[in-house]
Amino acid sequence: MPSFDIKSISRAENPFPALAQLRKQDPVHWSPAFKGWILTRYDDVRKALRSPQYSSDRLRPFFESLPEQKARELADLKHFIPLWLVFHQPPTHTRLRTIMTPGFLPSVIARMRPKIEALVDDLIDEFIDRGTVEFIDDFALRLPGYVIMDLLGVPRSDLPMIKTWSDELQLFIGGSKVTVDKYAKAQHGTHAMAEYFREVIRRKRAHPDQDFISMLIEARDETGQMSEDELITTCILLVFGGHETTTNLLGNGLLALIRNPGELEKLRANPALAAMAVEECLRYDGPSGSVVRIVSEDHELEGKLLRKGDRVFAMIPAANRDPAQFANPDKFDIERSKSAHLTFGQGVHFCLGAPLARAEAIAAFPKLVSRLHDIHVTTDKLEWRDATVMRGITALPLAFRRA
Ligand code: HEM
Repeated sequence: MPSFDIKSISRAENPFPALAQLRKQDPVHWSPAFKGWILTRYDDVRKALRSPQYSSDRLRPFFESLPEQKARELADLKHFIPLWLVFHQPPTHTRLRTIMTPGFLPSVIARMRPKIEALVDDLIDEFIDRGTVEFIDDFALRLPGYVIMDLLGVPRSDLPMIKTWSDELQLFIGGSKVTVDKYAKAQHGTHAMAEYFREVIRRKRAHPDQDFISMLIEARDETGQMSEDELITTCILLVFGGHETTTNLLGNGLLALIRNPGELEKLRANPALAAMAVEECLRYDGPSGSVVRIVSEDHELEGKLLRKGDRVFAMIPAANRDPAQFANPDKFDIERSKSAHLTFGQGVHFCLGAPLARAEAIAAFPKLVSRLHDIHVTTDKLEWRDATVMRGITALPLAFRRA
């Protein structure tokens, strides 16, 4: 099979035909551009996410290869980001995850629900009289951004500043290789966030509250099971992982509903379908692009030899449309009964924030479609983010009629 332009897939408005072709013709594909294997079948993607044959320690090879001078310039990036639990294996992963889990229990998320619903209404109130909205900036960024700031216990007014730093880090965690200065920017964003959270932690240690950071401080100070830098970097991970993914779920999901008016009408008529509709939005065109793993032992897959140390890109959007797993996979069907999509990952690293992201989308979609009618997109050209690990639109300008 000729070399596949996987980069153009990540920015494509409709990458699914190309991904389907790859899944059919070369499901375990070596990409010279990515210097890695591209997996597109559901079973292979699922296995790469769960099996110990694939390691999630994917940053170490990069940092180990840096010349000394460069490593010094990127000191905070190199120090803090590899401490994220998502890049660790058990037992370090288990230790960190155990400390974080109480903050994401279903009972905790259930308590947040009324506040999330009120926030959805407040955000809609801000634009509903205009009859137009840029949905990403005015809603999809703010809802998860404010929710994660509330959860951590930091002021909502700091969101624009944190978002700027988080976007700088994003350039490193999954942006395009061509971005100028991406490492320097990611270093700047990481340094700024580390300093910000160091100060927040200092204040909260003196005056604890009911928030997630205070909970982590207590766990650290009482059991010593977390280092101070792990505490700082966990805060960075939560603001980073906690907003843009959900922004893209809201943006891609609303777009899918608008483009499938029959399904939108079903949700409008029966808001109780919201949870199922959210699962279908996550499957059909969800916010996850690829999840990267490193092969931890030589093995064969589809007659190809994957060697220890090789990079693997598990393509979530391809797996989520695999006809071997989903009947009629290209159909957007909010009443799809069984949806074992892989958008939140699989196995020990299964997304910790999944209940929160789901709660936000379940609150948002029914209110949006009931309060806004005749919703349509006011541009012919939507631009998709230049990122391999995520999938989302940069802007979604809409016009609508107030219900
Ligand atoms: C629709 C929104 C979201 C999507 C699609 C998503 C997707 C994912 C995926 C695919 C992983 C697994 C990565 C891997 O296996 O290497 C993951 C892990 C994680 N996510 Fe999410 N995420 C979302 C929202 C959130 C939110 C709201 C938070 C926090 C507030 C969050 C926090 C985390 C954390 C802490 C991990 C690491 C878990 C671990 O390694 O044990 N995510 N997420």
